[in-house]
Amino acid sequence: MAEAVIADAARPGPLILGDGLHKVYDNGTEALKDVHLEIAAGEFVSLLGPSGCGKSTLLRMIAGLEQPSNGVLRWWNRPRPPRRADRERIAMVFQEPTLMPWATALGNVRLPLELAGLPEPLIAQRSQEALTLVGLAGFEKSRPRELSGGMQMRVAIARALATEPDLLLMDEPFGALDEFTRNRLDEDLRAIWRERRMTVVFVTHSIYEAVFLSQRVVVMAARPGRVLEQLQVAGEGERGEDFRHAPAFVEACRLLSQSISLAHRSPAGAHS
Ligand SMILES: Nc1ncnc2c1ncn2[C@@H]1O[C@H](COP(=O)(O)OP(=O)(O)OP(=O)(O)O)[C@@H](O)[C@H]1O
Ligand SMILES: [Mg+2]
Repeated sequence: MAEAVIADAARPGPLILGDGLHKVYDNGTEALKDVHLEIAAGEFVSLLGPSGCGKSTLLRMIAGLEQPSNGVLRWWNRPRPPRRADRERIAMVFQEPTLMPWATALGNVRLPLELAGLPEPLIAQRSQEALTLVGLAGFEKSRPRELSGGMQMRVAIARALATEPDLLLMDEPFGALDEFTRNRLDEDLRAIWRERRMTVVFVTHSIYEAVFLSQRVVVMAARPGRVLEQLQVAGEGERGEDFRHAPAFVEACRLLSQSISLAHRSPAGAHS
């Protein structure tokens, strides 16, 4: 028996494992139905699908902010999401930057580290590093209202990165930005991921964004929210502007738009 337990612990399995996940909200909305999802450590996975297909619900569940009505969810092969004191860390970035308007960019990035009670030299070092990583060195003293939407989002990403998360959850973080800014941030995020190698789960409506960023795209459909299919994107190396014209990119976009339009023609998608 003891041997079996040790053998199990030695095989960590996926970082996130969801099986038979079901979510019915109090008002009767079936937000997710029988979702199976595995995410490996270090992977960059996008959840792609139309409005209302349960992407945010699934992401909030992974964050431990929402309970499944049914099914199994495991974090690092454990039945509960990690607590703040655990070594495994989860950070979340929302669609809105959600910055404190009265604090500077640096102050915003420092806050979670101060709340975690880290020693001052470490707070100073990590928050400065994170701001530099997102390209905001020189803007430490700026208030959110003095920054553009894209820069505010960079501060929100720096705030998440400064906590050195093992798992970064991002819910349409660039959805409100113009296409040029979004593309730039996508490129920078991909470079940061390649440098830090944390696990990222990224929610988006955009096929192009999902393909550009991810190793794997999980396609979801609505009513009820479910996983339709998963696509592995070729091209492990650096992805710059050129990748948007590469055969691997074009082919993945074609396959995904085909599967999404098929989903909309299916009876379950007929109302949209
Ligand atoms: N707290 C809630 N109470 C009741 N219903 C909810 C709640 N949150 C979400 N829903 C419903 O569950 C379904 C899935 O919602 P969810 O927000 O997860 O979708 P989404 O894919 O993130 O959509 P969007 O792309 O618009 O953000 C929708 O029908 C939504 O109306
Ligand atoms: Mg959402």
